[in-house]
Amino acid sequence: MSSRQSAVLVTGANGEIGHSLVRRLAAQGERVVALDVREIDAACRVHASATQVGDILDFGMLQRLGVQYEFGAIFHLAALLSTRGEFQPELAHRVNVEGTLNLLRLAVDAAETRGAPVKFLFPSSIAAYGLKGAAARRAAGRVREEDHLQPETMYGCNKLYGEHLGRYYMHHYKRLAAAQAHVVDFRSIRFPGLISADTVPSGGTSDYAPEMLHAAARGEEYNCFVREDVRLPFMAMPDAVDAMLQLASAPAENLTSHVYNIGAFAPSAGEIARLIGEHFPSARIHFAPDERRQAIVESWPEDVDDSRARRDFGFAPRFDLVRTFTDYLIPGVKRRYTKP
Ligand code: SER
Repeated sequence: MSSRQSAVLVTGANGEIGHSLVRRLAAQGERVVALDVREIDAACRVHASATQVGDILDFGMLQRLGVQYEFGAIFHLAALLSTRGEFQPELAHRVNVEGTLNLLRLAVDAAETRGAPVKFLFPSSIAAYGLKGAAARRAAGRVREEDHLQPETMYGCNKLYGEHLGRYYMHHYKRLAAAQAHVVDFRSIRFPGLISADTVPSGGTSDYAPEMLHAAARGEEYNCFVREDVRLPFMAMPDAVDAMLQLASAPAENLTSHVYNIGAFAPSAGEIARLIGEHFPSARIHFAPDERRQAIVESWPEDVDDSRARRDFGFAPRFDLVRTFTDYLIPGVKRRYTKP
């Protein structure tokens, strides 16, 4: 008899996606174990059934969690993002690749314990793509999942390889060993840049959009590190979390792939600044491009083809660019930064 409690594990719980996801999973009635390398934020802790501070490179710690809980699903969000990864590429590789491998091993162990597959949700990224500059990305248009997979950042390489690792664990794990069940049900979304009213990301390259917004809401000046005309796909956080939950609950027989693009709108940095200016007329946003960070953005697609996600699990974002600002971001940041 097992005395383990069934639960869902969320790694990187303190991060940009983690906060919203933990809250939403708890609202669905899930028992959530929130794991992060830093003390779990109060806003996240209130929704988690249990918290664990620890490093995903510490497999012993993960094994101990696996003894305590019977994980039916793992949302593996912990990662070092694209800008930070270019300062510490080897560390990024360790966290993003070895960390992911540790979580996949935990998933295999958990599946054996419960005698059923474990769902493994993995946020991949537009950073998995690599295009050679402005003309190439314009010519590529809305890229499909199979095309332009030549990432230029360590983070992008790590995410693309994480997708391959997941596919391997799902379909080919220990293929030469005696009768192997396929125990990891791996599902991945290549997220565009995300913007949240509640959290500011750290260490990413699409961070200019959320940074611009939160600076304006705090009344601070902001120097945007990319050029005004550069375009990138973005999405409101609630749509990103919805997509992950929809993919997690989709019947396996509907899924034709282990990886899906999703997109909502693809504004230029200047368009984002103008929208912010409409709501915060005193915003001081300047463009002071850092050519090296600009080049990272220019290696990512201008837009993505997400027809596979729309067909297979009914992905349909609720927020377009204008609604993202008027209905979600602006009221959210005003609440957040207005003193009572
Ligand atoms: N938001 C990520 C980054 O900028 C891309 O997935 O690194």
